[in-house]
Amino acid sequence: MRIGIIGAGQMARALGGGWAAAGHEIALGARTSARAEAAAAAIGHGAKATTVAEAVAFGETTLLALPVSALEEVLTEHRETLTGRTLIDCTNAFAPDAGGFKLSEPAVAERIAATVPGARVVKAFNLLAAEVWAGPERVFEGRPLTVPLCGDDAEAVATVAGLAEDLKLRPVPAGDLARARYLEATSAFVVGLWFAGHDARAMFPPLESAFAVADD
Ligand SMILES: NC(=O)c1ccc[n+]([C@@H]2O[C@H](COP(=O)([O-])OP(=O)(O)OC[C@H]3O[C@@H](n4cnc5c(N)ncnc54)[C@H](OP(=O)(O)O)[C@@H]3O)[C@@H](O)[C@H]2O)c1
Repeated sequence: MRIGIIGAGQMARALGGGWAAAGHEIALGARTSARAEAAAAAIGHGAKATTVAEAVAFGETTLLALPVSALEEVLTEHRETLTGRTLIDCTNAFAPDAGGFKLSEPAVAERIAATVPGARVVKAFNLLAAEVWAGPERVFEGRPLTVPLCGDDAEAVATVAGLAEDLKLRPVPAGDLARARYLEATSAFVVGLWFAGHDARAMFPPLESAFAVADD
């Protein structure tokens, strides 16, 4: 698949590196050619360094690997080209403060869908750090790493599920795009715990122990 990546930072490299290694064609668009070239070189496997406009035009699927503050400008400028495309939203609107991490804005994924009404937005990959997505480990404590996906378009969700599988991850459809707000809130909450040095994973028992009484 042709994947356009907008942004040249940690998430662009982490996810782009895995998809390029899985055989996808990558065009990485950044504000400056030097940044695009450095990120494309880090991704390797023939990833192309382009302008933002060229990456948008290239991608059958587009990863928005941008700070939330940049989205409105980029999406508005490229709205026409992005209409009908699958857009992967991995962003988090974090406002770090003394108490941990708080959401600084309303649900980002829904705002993206409102800014580009024809785009097929899928929220994914926002829960974990770029290092985890880039790392070699895909199974922790015997459990495959699961990626929840939220979106309104079943075909786009299936596309992103396939891209998660290409990274040796286990995709799980997790409801419509309105539920992305819970993914965004979960990320703020859990990352706050991790930064405070707590084992967020220990909050949850395994599935078989999650309910005292099984539902019929
Ligand atoms: N890093 C993580 O562990 C992680 C995990 C989950 C989710 N996320 C989310 O993923 C998104 C990207 O994070 P990141 O860590 O990859 O950020 P990053 O390393 O800071 O990279 C952001 C990239 O966006 C580019 N950019 C900023 N404003 C732009 C604009 N107006 N037009 C075009 N490009 C612009 C920057 O360009 P320049 O190079 O020119 O500055 C940079 O290449 C964020 O929303 C973040 O919350 C991050």
